[in-house]
Amino acid sequence: MKKTIGIIGAGNIGKTVAAHLLKNNIPVIISNSKGPETLENTISQLGKGAKAATTAEAADADIVLLALPWSKVKNLTPVRDWEGKIIIDATNHFTPDYQVEDLGGRASSQVVQDHLPGARIVKAFNTLAAKVLAADPVMENGHRVLFVSGDDKEAKAAVSEMIKAIGFAPVDLGELAAGGKLQEAKGLLSLQNLIKL
Ligand SMILES: NC(=O)c1ccc[n+]([C@@H]2O[C@H](COP(=O)([O-])OP(=O)(O)OC[C@H]3O[C@@H](n4cnc5c(N)ncnc54)[C@H](OP(=O)(O)O)[C@@H]3O)[C@@H](O)[C@H]2O)c1
Repeated sequence: MKKTIGIIGAGNIGKTVAAHLLKNNIPVIISNSKGPETLENTISQLGKGAKAATTAEAADADIVLLALPWSKVKNLTPVRDWEGKIIIDATNHFTPDYQVEDLGGRASSQVVQDHLPGARIVKAFNTLAAKVLAADPVMENGHRVLFVSGDDKEAKAAVSEMIKAIGFAPVDLGELAAGGKLQEAKGLLSLQNLIKL
């Protein structure tokens, strides 16, 4: 896979996914809210292939991972024109005091879609705790599962290819309204750590 992955959010999930990508020679552009100059240590820890950038620059990458708090996703609306952009939504819809927000029956990624008009959203990387996600996904007898849901088949295929390239096994749960709800916070598949044989 030759694509560059943009990562918005340089915390537990952003750094963990970046490390898997870099281990597999996939370059990353990573951003936080405070600005690239505050990411010097993160970049030196991540090593070759990692670049700090503004959020707008990270959002220019071929595929963009959302690894920021749910409450901050709405801040991304003005960052760029999101039309056609492949977005991986790794957020869980917790409020700042760790309550699951009432979305009136909608899947959380459908709300993310509202904030990023025209983006092709694929929900993934949100079901495992960062420490579990950080572990080697390649087991003696199989690969750790990452669920994927999305309404755009091409975007889902591109994200699934990326997931395979870093050693995980993508499992397609269908569209956001159904699959997204299964894998989001408090969904039936949230926190399920499975190995595909
Ligand atoms: N931690 C887990 O185990 C886990 C598991 C599954 C899913 N998730 C989900 O993944 C997301 C990230 O969680 P986390 O634990 O990685 O969070 P975290 O460690 O608190 O990191 C959040 C990152 O987002 C950045 N950020 C905040 N607002 C931003 C903005 N407007 N633009 C760009 N970057 C911004 C922060 O930058 P600054 O520090 O500069 O503000 C920080 O680098 C959350 O939605 C969470 O629910 C987490």
